[in-house]
Amino acid sequence: MAHKRFTFQDAKSDDCLQVVIPEVSDGSYGMYIWPCAPVLAQFVWQKRACLAGKRILELGAGTALPGIVAAKCGAKVTLSDRMASQHCLDRCRQSAELNDLPDIKVVGITWGRISQVLCDLKPLDLILASDCFYDSKDFEDVLMTMAFLLEMSPNAEVWVSYQDRSSERTIQHLLYKWDLSAEELDYPDMDLLDSKFESYKTHIIQLFVIRKKKK
Ligand SMILES: C[S@@+](CC[C@H](N)C(=O)[O-])C[C@H]1O[C@@H](n2cnc3c(N)ncnc32)[C@H](O)[C@@H]1O
Repeated sequence: MAHKRFTFQDAKSDDCLQVVIPEVSDGSYGMYIWPCAPVLAQFVWQKRACLAGKRILELGAGTALPGIVAAKCGAKVTLSDRMASQHCLDRCRQSAELNDLPDIKVVGITWGRISQVLCDLKPLDLILASDCFYDSKDFEDVLMTMAFLLEMSPNAEVWVSYQDRSSERTIQHLLYKWDLSAEELDYPDMDLLDSKFESYKTHIIQLFVIRKKKK
């Protein structure tokens, strides 16, 4: 197992945050850090002023870099991954432990399934999803879960980082079906992130926000 170090810096002050993420590079999808994760984490860091005390859920968290950064910035964070993937849920717990975040909750949430865990969540302010749109067969399940969460917390929004793997992929028709809207977000200043993990530089990564459409 390797420990990857990320140092988030501020352009105008000495404010900085160091996070360590455990990674098993030959494991399954949730065991290592995907290029989308540092981009969403850096966006979260840049928005930290409005996150303290906010209730945040990360979907498909895996090693959970964005959720860990949010918790370090004072948010009340719950990390989630597929209910049946105990090893991914353990990875979430390990990331929380390594970063000295005993209050982080870890729950099993499988996209597309309305479970008791999902229904029992307290109202949310924000949902994070880093590289959850990676397999087009899951796109509707991911959006259905987001739509359910936004129905329970209509003022919440979802911050998504997306790796463009094929120009033929789209979620437009599914957004329409689930009564959601999406808007592109500004790409964060990645020069302010100090890390040896740089694979995001060689992929097209986009950030967007998903909201429930206003009636
Ligand atoms: C591409 S990885 C991204 C992991 C992490 N968010 C990141 O960006 O580094 C996709 C994540 O979604 C989780 N996942 C896959 N299918 C899922 C499902 N049906 N329900 C919930 N989580 C799922 C995987 O276990 C994995 O952690």
